[in-house]
Amino acid sequence: MNPENVLEVNDLEVHFRTLDGIVRGINGVSFNLRNGETLGLVGESGCGKSVTAHSIMRLLPRRISKIAAGEIWFRRQNGDDHNLTTVDPDGSLIRDIRGNEIAMIFQEPMTSLSPLHTIGDQIMEAIMLHQGLGKQEAEEHAVEMLDAVRIGNAREFIRSYPHQYSGGMRQRAMIAMALCCNPQVLLADEPTTALDVTIQAQILDLMRKLQAEFDSAIIMITHNLGVINEMADRIAVMYLGKIVEIADRRTVFKHPAHPYTVGLMQSVPEMGDMQKTRLHPIPGMIPDPFNVPQGCAFHPRCPVKNKPAACMDPSGVPLVEVEPGHMVRCTLYAE
Ligand SMILES: Nc1ncnc2c1ncn2[C@@H]1O[C@H](COP(=O)(O)OP(=O)(O)OP(=O)(O)O)[C@@H](O)[C@H]1O
Ligand SMILES: [Mg+2]
Repeated sequence: MNPENVLEVNDLEVHFRTLDGIVRGINGVSFNLRNGETLGLVGESGCGKSVTAHSIMRLLPRRISKIAAGEIWFRRQNGDDHNLTTVDPDGSLIRDIRGNEIAMIFQEPMTSLSPLHTIGDQIMEAIMLHQGLGKQEAEEHAVEMLDAVRIGNAREFIRSYPHQYSGGMRQRAMIAMALCCNPQVLLADEPTTALDVTIQAQILDLMRKLQAEFDSAIIMITHNLGVINEMADRIAVMYLGKIVEIADRRTVFKHPAHPYTVGLMQSVPEMGDMQKTRLHPIPGMIPDPFNVPQGCAFHPRCPVKNKPAACMDPSGVPLVEVEPGHMVRCTLYAE
């Protein structure tokens, strides 16, 4: 692994078994996550953002999906590199890493919260398991974390079950749980969607603190351009299971190269008014997953006239570096 990176994902493919056949949830995803950076991951619904994050956590639904190809290299705190695609998903190695060195804020809070245990017990368990603290200290730390995500009266709240929380509070409790062990890598999947703007700002601050103190790296998945603009150092854009563009934030906002990114970014207003800005909808339909266009999957919707015949090349379009650090998967730039 490159010493600059904490995570290197190479040509990752995940297949789902459905009644109608195999669906490629992601289809050759490659990117690096550098130490201490925030990488924004954006793209239309269904493009594979959550599947990418779940693959890294090795939490894909076992019976219906598999990692069909690719590698996920992770550098542990102790300096060891591991390919997470080959570790036993129930083994002690991934259990030491998951929730501790790599933590995730899930799009759906109940994915990570058990309905059977109190919020306090769940956060304390993570702390005791990974940080080796005793029960008393773990409880203190859990209360601190709930305070930090602005859950008032945390000491009492800790004894409640998830169903007793409102949706927004559950999301904050899950954020507290994800941050309680100071992970090196935080996968944040729409972390602040259900929260009001003030609390959202406080949560983002909390993530920045984690980053400043522990040099943590964050993958920030969101449809909210305001959040991306505030947090991301670099942005990766996904379309139909592939990364189509990746560059530093300014480049993606100001000079996007891929016609898909150009479309997504069209609605970026002046700074300051970004808080509520969602990604721009692109005309045309996302292709049927059982009938993915050959070559560039975006070509049927691509607004560029006189598309090169290469767009339809069944061997696909490679990701090329158009300038240092700026990768694009589009025939307009291939050679
Ligand atoms: N449980 C599943 N069964 C079958 N296919 C699935 C399943 N989960 C995901 N997929 C496939 O993987 C693709 C990517 O899904 P994913 O959840 O990663 O999208 P996403 O980018 O996170 O979307 P959103 O923005 O709506 O959260 C889907 O379009 C679908 O084809
Ligand atoms: Mg998702």
